[in-house]
Amino acid sequence: MDTAGKGRSRRSTLAVPGSSVKMLDKAKGLGADSLFMDLEDAVAPVAKEQARENIIAALNEGGYGSKILSVRVNDWSTPWTTQDVTSVIQGAGSILDCIMLPKVQTADQIIQLDSLITNLEKSLGLPVGRIGIEAQIETALGLTHVNAIAAASPRLETIIFGPADFMASINMRTLVVGEQPQGYDVGDAYHFILMSILIAARAYDKLAIDGPYLAIKDLEGFNRVAGRSAALGFDGKWVLHPDQIDAANAMFAPRQADYDHAELILDAYDYYTSSDGGARGAVMLGSEMIDEASRKMALVVSAKGRAAGLKRTSVFEKPTD
Ligand code: GLV
Ligand code: MG
Repeated sequence: MDTAGKGRSRRSTLAVPGSSVKMLDKAKGLGADSLFMDLEDAVAPVAKEQARENIIAALNEGGYGSKILSVRVNDWSTPWTTQDVTSVIQGAGSILDCIMLPKVQTADQIIQLDSLITNLEKSLGLPVGRIGIEAQIETALGLTHVNAIAAASPRLETIIFGPADFMASINMRTLVVGEQPQGYDVGDAYHFILMSILIAARAYDKLAIDGPYLAIKDLEGFNRVAGRSAALGFDGKWVLHPDQIDAANAMFAPRQADYDHAELILDAYDYYTSSDGGARGAVMLGSEMIDEASRKMALVVSAKGRAAGLKRTSVFEKPTD
């Protein structure tokens, strides 16, 4: 199944409330890779129906360039979910790339959402399987099922950490989203959660996305928190304000030095494993020993760099002796 947003960069995902026509319009010109129009927590219960209409109108207006377009519906336990999904697919199913499901608790919720989307695609004559799913992990129960959730559907493209709801779900003793709870001074309180999401994502070939940082004026804080998930290997982060977009795009972009290094490893490994290079499996590149595992790591970094359009600034030189 080939879903629409798969394989496309998602360094930054901009959250836009579906109740605000002005913000839906403004989002078009911003430089986020991806954009989700919200029907869930940023929209008051009495404004949900109007928000559906605003979102359908905004999607049909177009003008979003290459951004991946998602709609976040209400979670599976609510009376709104089925109508949210039905309305947006009926109104803009050929335009939107993904449905985002928040507070996913079990794999079954993804399976049911998948089958609802399939039925709608079939009845509307849309290509079956094009619309992807994004799953937010924001509860203790959701995290215990994250592997099964990641494996639940080929439509699933991303697994997203929802820190605010998650902190509430586990009774974490702080109200500052994404920051370490005071008194916990032995490491990163989010490490287990981030790693669990990342491993589920990598095991099933999905993207791992970090959630929002609410203190929108604190770019230093944004960079600090984004830096942790980026270092682990996450693919991107939500942004709530235009100022956070450039920071996220830079943080999750492949770095030139890493890209050059990766290309060098690939060339060197190619050469040394060939008969010309001595058909060796483990060799020295400068002061570093490289082998097949190094090649695998280098392939990941080089693929990201190539996809981002980076150009090499160094070349591998065969030894002369
Ligand atoms: C996002 O939805 C969050 O709860 O952090
Ligand atoms: Mg949430």
